[in-house]
Amino acid sequence: MQVSEFYKDNAKLKWVVLIASVIISIGSIYYTNILVEQLKERERAQVRLFARAIEYTLSESDDALLFVSEEIIAKNNSIPTIWRNAEGQLNYRNIDLPEDLSPTRLNRILESKILEMEKDYDPIPVNYRNSNGELENYGAVYYEHSFLLTQLLAYPYIQLTAIAVFGIISFLAFNYSKEAEQNRVWVGLAKETAHQLGTPISSLMAWTEVLRDDPELQRKGIPEELDKDIRKLKVVTERFSSIGSAPALKPEPVVQTVNNVVNYLRPRLSAKIRFIMDVPDDEIMANIHTPLFEWVLENLFKNAVDSMGSSGTITVRISRGVADKVLLEVSDTGKGIPAAILKKVFRPGFTTKKRGWGLGLALARRIIENYHEGRIFVRSTGDQGTTFRIEVKAA
Ligand SMILES: Nc1ncnc2c1ncn2[C@@H]1O[C@H](COP(=O)(O)OP(=O)(O)O)[C@@H](O)[C@H]1O
Ligand SMILES: [Mg+2]
Repeated sequence: MQVSEFYKDNAKLKWVVLIASVIISIGSIYYTNILVEQLKERERAQVRLFARAIEYTLSESDDALLFVSEEIIAKNNSIPTIWRNAEGQLNYRNIDLPEDLSPTRLNRILESKILEMEKDYDPIPVNYRNSNGELENYGAVYYEHSFLLTQLLAYPYIQLTAIAVFGIISFLAFNYSKEAEQNRVWVGLAKETAHQLGTPISSLMAWTEVLRDDPELQRKGIPEELDKDIRKLKVVTERFSSIGSAPALKPEPVVQTVNNVVNYLRPRLSAKIRFIMDVPDDEIMANIHTPLFEWVLENLFKNAVDSMGSSGTITVRISRGVADKVLLEVSDTGKGIPAAILKKVFRPGFTTKKRGWGLGLALARRIIENYHEGRIFVRSTGDQGTTFRIEVKAA
């Protein structure tokens, strides 16, 4: 139970991180928007000043205006502006255009630029007082925001993308190292177990030979029974040592492998549990490692039995799939798996049983995906039972 609690906490932590990053993102975009608004207002004021400066240079002819034209008109060096005067002539600043454009072409480009600019900002009219003291319109200044402002607008998105990329990479790196660590634990524990079982098994084998010499024990069939148990212990040892090393796959008859497991389990199960084999007449060969593959089947069958209680039916379907695949389905008529936990059943340590370890399916997935390069799926519709489906490569 503690292990599944850990997964719950982990899921909660993921939500906290996700919500925090959403808040940071929104905050960063919001704050940049405030800056953008302020900068926009400042640029608008600058263009207004620019228009006023033009007005002054039109209405006065004093040399003092040199200051206005030099300091204000010339120093507008970041905001792209186009001034259309009363005669319709266009005068532009801070717009990157090639030098050698023909006048008509230049005009066409500037006109389309003006249309673009008008979408964002209203032009600022240039009005000046003529010699009679009447207010006269002398065109207007069109403008758009500066490159600086464009950069500032893009900045939060660039920043968020960078953070997201960084986040994804660290997440993958973390997951990878977590997986690598898990691999070492699986492999190490399996090797250690196989190794520790080795010695007592060989000594048990020697002891049965001694017992075999006793006619009394021989008559009672005790050495034979012991032999069976030793064989099972050897199978277990082989499973663990195979998990600890990358085992070679061989073409094996799948139907026969399944039958072997069923025949081994049947006498150990309630008579009210039925097995149905839905398999083709001819044998199907698949590339598998028999001791590990049998372990997977045993785990699936045990889970099926657990879910059905005292009676029910387990159906095994074996067929050839597309693209050199062999499909194997194990269905039961048990209580099914609620949709909410369907995604979790393969996690190491996930169990809903009082005495469960939650390792059966984790191991099954590991054997099928890592050692057989196959796939395993689960499907369950409410109380209609559960189906596990395995895909491995045909031989
Ligand atoms: N055939 C099935 N029917 C219903 N639930 C299942 C079945 N197979 C697996 N489960 C669910 O998946 C969980 C994990 O299974 P498993 O990894 O074998 O661990 P354990 O059997 O020790 O609980 C089980 O506790 C059970 O809730
Ligand atoms: Mg199990």
